[in-house]
Amino acid sequence: MARPILLLLLLLPTLLSVSATRKRTRSTILGGIRDEKLSRLHFFWHDIVSGPRPTVVTIARGPSTNSSATFFGMVNIIDDPLTLGPEPTSQLVGRAQGLYASAAQESVGLLMAMNLAFIDGQYNGSTLAILGRNQVFSGVREMPILGGTKAFRYARGYVQARTHSLDLKTGDAVVEYNCYVLHY
Ligand SMILES: *[C@@H]1O[C@H](CO)[C@@H](O)[C@H](O)[C@H]1NC(C)=O
Ligand SMILES: *[C@@H]1O[C@H](CO)[C@@H](O)[C@H](O)[C@H]1NC(C)=O
Repeated sequence: MARPILLLLLLLPTLLSVSATRKRTRSTILGGIRDEKLSRLHFFWHDIVSGPRPTVVTIARGPSTNSSATFFGMVNIIDDPLTLGPEPTSQLVGRAQGLYASAAQESVGLLMAMNLAFIDGQYNGSTLAILGRNQVFSGVREMPILGGTKAFRYARGYVQARTHSLDLKTGDAVVEYNCYVLHY
């Protein structure tokens, strides 16, 4: 009986130190020991289809896109403003530049491939790269953050997107984004 307990006692400090180092990841990659941190970003993404200055343009349609209820095969390029609040006049903090493609036949599902380019505060000049699946009529859509630049070097994480407003007549949409990003 004594032996397994002794073994457990000997192992215990090792187990504890493993769990302790998991909490904080340290890196010497950047020329010094630095702690990885979790940042949360919150903003609104404006996809403007109508009006004199649309921020999205359709660049391709598949042969069956027009008869598809889910716009299957359609590819759009975006340069969408990111703002602090949901109103279009709210403070601009960056732009989402990239594309989304209708990649689902049974539901409206997009492949999103975009760079979030920030222009405000400590993240001015930094970008985050997002590649993910966006089921636009689901309540919360989660997409991976694959990386980033400047303040977001070595970034990884995810975003949660929720539709704030959608004008079914014009297609104009405002989507709330919450980003959870680990970086140094
Ligand atoms: C599909 O619809 C668009 C926009 O209404 C139109 O420009 C295009 O010619 C249509 N394509 C086909 C193959 O019917
Ligand atoms: C962001 O950086 C650019 C280029 O360095 C600079 O011109 C601009 O004033 C900065 N914007 C803010 C809000 O700090």
